[in-house]
Amino acid sequence: MAFTQDDLERCRRDFPALAREQDGVALAYLDGPAGSQVPSAVIDAISIYYRTCNANTHGAFVTSRESDAVLLGAREAAAAFLGAPSWREISFGANMTTLAFALSHAIAREIREGDEVVVTELDHEANRGPWLGLRAAGAVVREVALRPDGRLDEADLRAKIGPRTRLVAIGYASNALGTVNDVPLARELSRAVGAWLVVDAVHYAPHFPLDVSALDPDFLLCSAYKFYGPHVGILYARPGLLDRLRTDKLRTQDDAAPFRIETGTLNHAAIAGVRAAIEYIATWGKGATLRERVVSAMTAIAEHEHALASAYWEGVRLLPGVTAWGQEFSSPRRAPTVSITIDGVRASEAAAALGRRGVLVWDGDFYAVRAIEALGLASRGGVLRTGVSMYNTREEIERLLAGVAEVAGGRAR
Ligand SMILES: Cc1ncc(COP(=O)(O)O)c(C=O)c1O
Repeated sequence: MAFTQDDLERCRRDFPALAREQDGVALAYLDGPAGSQVPSAVIDAISIYYRTCNANTHGAFVTSRESDAVLLGAREAAAAFLGAPSWREISFGANMTTLAFALSHAIAREIREGDEVVVTELDHEANRGPWLGLRAAGAVVREVALRPDGRLDEADLRAKIGPRTRLVAIGYASNALGTVNDVPLARELSRAVGAWLVVDAVHYAPHFPLDVSALDPDFLLCSAYKFYGPHVGILYARPGLLDRLRTDKLRTQDDAAPFRIETGTLNHAAIAGVRAAIEYIATWGKGATLRERVVSAMTAIAEHEHALASAYWEGVRLLPGVTAWGQEFSSPRRAPTVSITIDGVRASEAAAALGRRGVLVWDGDFYAVRAIEALGLASRGGVLRTGVSMYNTREEIERLLAGVAEVAGGRAR
């Protein structure tokens, strides 16, 4: 099934924010890696929750029972989105970073002096900081090198994972460069030494179908606001694993997974929106089950995004003074996120010039600060990042290219 031009036009009508203009020009939202826009179905689900059943959970009355059902339904939808066996593997939290820290506190209690923890130079700090903190529990951190071509050094990954490794933390896709990492290899290597595998799928989840049952990570994290939902973090934990971890929790809290890592009252309305976002994505796919529709939709959306990002990649590289960073687009296993530098222009100046034209792109390191340092780009203010989402069009890419050409040619206001 394809995501056609007709689908794209219909899809754009679903996102109220796309109607927004600046100086009579429609905003081109190419800032998706920092958070995508939200369709009406998600906005409605949040509003309906507040209008009809706003309550705390586990009460003996109707709105509380309905709130319980909202949370369960959202866990089931997230399980379908990730390919998890059931809702029991799905925990919610404020965002990915908060969940990763909560997980790291529990894992710290399992760490022995001299255990090794492997992180990568490419990862967002959210998948580094919590694990670097395990040093306080006696862990030794080993870091997989990033190559200048934007890919992780596979030989180094193999060398860094050894008999003392207790945990490997790796991103599925880089939010800075769009690189898709060989996570199945990280699974194979970590399993061979009995280490846990933590996958940061925040940047991967909006662009590719996920299948935790096939990949079999110990933990996988993502964030709904990157895939057309509200600000909610999602943690998948392998069946039976979270139950065994000593998480930070109150004695009043449910001991079982997925609840044992969820402290306090969750954002019920936003979680209603998570389910709506997944069901919205699924409307672009075909199949008998929500899972089948999600996979079919994500496959079609991935193709559409890849075509647009690859057109930008090919076009922008031809501009004098522009360097495009990261993996080639010859492989479909490449996230639709393109970062460039422009000779003599700081990324922040370029982003501001494009912003004045209503083209919304990010500059900086996007918290993938280690990767930007490793590429030697920190002193230049990082990179100018374009992210393609399902609602982006070829015209928007053309506007972006024209804007970058003006900035690179010194003609930008
Ligand atoms: C790859 C990646 N990992 C982790 C995060 C952190 O996610 P959150 O904002 O949900 O904490 C981000 C956010 O930009 C990200 O892009």
